[in-house]
Amino acid sequence: MNTEKGYAAGFRTLDTEVSDRKLPVEGTLPTWLRGSLLRNGPARFEAGSGAAGRAFRHWFDGQAMLHRFAFADGRVTYTNRFVDTPSSRAARESGRIAYPEFATDPCRSLFARFFSVFSRPEVANTNVSVARFGERFVALTETPLPVEFDPETLATAGVVGYEDALKGQLTTAHPHQDPGTGDLVNQLTHFARRSEYRVYRQPTTGTKRELIGRHPVTRPGYMHSFAITGRYVVLAEFPLTVNPLSLILSGRPFIENYRWDPERGTRFIVFDQREGGVRGVYETTACFAFHHINAWEDEDRDGDLVLDLCAYSDASVIDALYLDRLRAGEGVPVSYPTRFRIGLRTGRVETERLAEESMELPRIAYERHNGRDYRYAYGVSSLDGREDDFINQLVKVDTRTGATLTWHEEGCYPGEPVFVPAPDAADEDDGVLLSLVLDSANGSSSLLVLSARTLDVLARAQAPHIVPYGFHGLFTGRA
Ligand SMILES: [Fe+2]
Repeated sequence: MNTEKGYAAGFRTLDTEVSDRKLPVEGTLPTWLRGSLLRNGPARFEAGSGAAGRAFRHWFDGQAMLHRFAFADGRVTYTNRFVDTPSSRAARESGRIAYPEFATDPCRSLFARFFSVFSRPEVANTNVSVARFGERFVALTETPLPVEFDPETLATAGVVGYEDALKGQLTTAHPHQDPGTGDLVNQLTHFARRSEYRVYRQPTTGTKRELIGRHPVTRPGYMHSFAITGRYVVLAEFPLTVNPLSLILSGRPFIENYRWDPERGTRFIVFDQREGGVRGVYETTACFAFHHINAWEDEDRDGDLVLDLCAYSDASVIDALYLDRLRAGEGVPVSYPTRFRIGLRTGRVETERLAEESMELPRIAYERHNGRDYRYAYGVSSLDGREDDFINQLVKVDTRTGATLTWHEEGCYPGEPVFVPAPDAADEDDGVLLSLVLDSANGSSSLLVLSARTLDVLARAQAPHIVPYGFHGLFTGRA
């Protein structure tokens, strides 16, 4: 029986591309809001069409599309365009799934699997996030080759190569800025006979990466993001790990080689940027997360590391995000904003839930508070923590008091709320949140502009089509 729920409309292919389409706006946009929200996410879920088409299996497998909402003079214009990668070209033009995805594999020989996993990171479907390499804009995924695009037309410019010999087959689509230098910092997992996590920095002026530290690992964990402070880089290794050989030999798609083993617990691997190398590994009970919220060093409490992330009790959320399960309305586990206080001297890890509202796709006032003490986190959430629906509200969490504000409208499904500070903002939450919302009753998507202080809606701009749910974006002052 088809029990498809309203939110399933966000998991269907969008074929239409438009350029600089002026959007109808309700409400009043802040006069100071100038620039562009650039967003990334999956938008094609089949290779080919009709009965002959082959479906991608998992939400994370959908082919990347970029969206741009440009704000200027009280108006909003919208552009959307597929990222032009060999993977999306094969899916669109020849109806083939030609490259391995997160949970969908092409049919390929053992040799080809070996070649792709251990030797040559292939140009992949960069559908997760958007980042800046200095003046360049890139789309990212978890294989290490970014794809550059034009931030105005969204046209694909091509793969960005690195001018170094640093190796690793897996990375995160969530590079951080070093709060001190502004350098980009990221993590590579290198699968080999002796696998390693490798943390590196990349000066904003170029693409030559420098190693900060390495850490040997027998069974690498799945890491979607990590944490940074002024001095430290922290990898959270949840007990979802892989035997690297199975990536080649099992014949299963990438993520299906990972095994959940709660007995291992969660390990925080703390790299010291100042001294180089690993300061220590700190253990606590098992949990799982895609997203870190923020981290900082608490000088008032012995230099403890305070690390906040959106924690699930286990990794079952990955299975819940297969497209057939999502479209059938089977529901999705929820994660909670959770604080880990890591005693670098004592070795102890204390855990505390920060609020009773669930939270995913977290954002903060990044420019001023990344890697530093902060108060407010924003994210998507589920009404009453229910797991029988999809993300259906926005939440703001006061990490000091646990107080929350939410925005919810019946049948509406919001995406990641990107915080844009007001010019000369005096307070941390002086600014707006930009969230793309699917209204399942109207069959439309709108960009909401909300007060970050109150979560009141200031304005909404309706897109010309339903925009499939995306993952991450950024706001740039370039109009
Ligand atoms: Fe992410």
